[in-house]
Amino acid sequence: MISDETDHISSCIVSKPRIARQRWSLLAQIISNGDRRKDVCKNVISIRRFETFGLFRVDVISEEEECKWWEYKTDLINNFTLIVRQLCGCLKADKLQGFNNTGNVCIWPAEEIMSYYCLLNAAYFRNKSVIEIGGGMSCLAGFSIAVGTEAQQVQITDGNEDSVKNLEIMRERNKENYGETQVESSLFRWGPDKLEGNLQENFDIVLCSDCLFFEEGRKDLIKSMYNLLKPQGEVIIFAPRRGETFNNFMQLAQEIFHTEIKTNYNTTIWQLHSKFKEDSLYDENIHYPILLKMKKKDI
Ligand SMILES: C[S@@+](CC[C@H](N)C(=O)[O-])C[C@H]1O[C@@H](n2cnc3c(N)ncnc32)[C@H](O)[C@@H]1O
Repeated sequence: MISDETDHISSCIVSKPRIARQRWSLLAQIISNGDRRKDVCKNVISIRRFETFGLFRVDVISEEEECKWWEYKTDLINNFTLIVRQLCGCLKADKLQGFNNTGNVCIWPAEEIMSYYCLLNAAYFRNKSVIEIGGGMSCLAGFSIAVGTEAQQVQITDGNEDSVKNLEIMRERNKENYGETQVESSLFRWGPDKLEGNLQENFDIVLCSDCLFFEEGRKDLIKSMYNLLKPQGEVIIFAPRRGETFNNFMQLAQEIFHTEIKTNYNTTIWQLHSKFKEDSLYDENIHYPILLKMKKKDI
């Protein structure tokens, strides 16, 4: 689906550097033109862009100044309803300079697809302990598993404090629908060190979508995945190529993980992808996520 909503600067970092530079420069002007307190509303810098594969039925249920509440439904799971809170307020100048904010801009297509894929494979999550890292403001996949599968435990995380506040509100809002699944939300930043007691090698499944393109965070991200995962566990990643970034991540990860990639992993998604390719706003390089599964090597 194509919408008129705001794009985010980083989605263009790889494939459309000129447009990205223009928008960063506009932002820089706004910030440096004196009033640093001025909010930079997301729609100051707006272009038409590809937004969603339309894999869920989605309705707005209410709107507030800083957020919209959405109801996500799917026929993949009986009686599946997930309430999603999406931040939609102004992007303040200090946020642009603070911790990475890419997860508060939108739910990226890779996250939507990862959620759909997990629900298609709901039985796989039965009795598993699952963590989503870099899940942004919605952790759509983590919450979909919490509501739509019989996972034992789901830990919903991101490294951005605003995202995590939003996740906490969503966790509370959806709590009637978790059944026996334990659901926690927390701030989790990737890093090289072993993790505190209850996180180290605690998870059967680590989920991550569209986080591979950060050059600086890449080593830490791989190390964190390794540390979070139980010895026999599996990392499930969905991410678009974004230039060479996907391959760079995989090359580095292969030092400590066995990897398996799939480009065509689901017929419905593949058909949508083939159809969208005819639309000039759809750019495979930034919109079509590849599936990467990883298992630990003995090191
Ligand atoms: C492009 S967003 C993807 C968000 C979400 N997975 C999606 O696809 O909609 C990248 C996410 O990585 C998170 N992130 C970036 N660096 C991080 C770090 N060092 N530790 C934890 N999270 C980080 C950001 O906060 C952001 O939510």
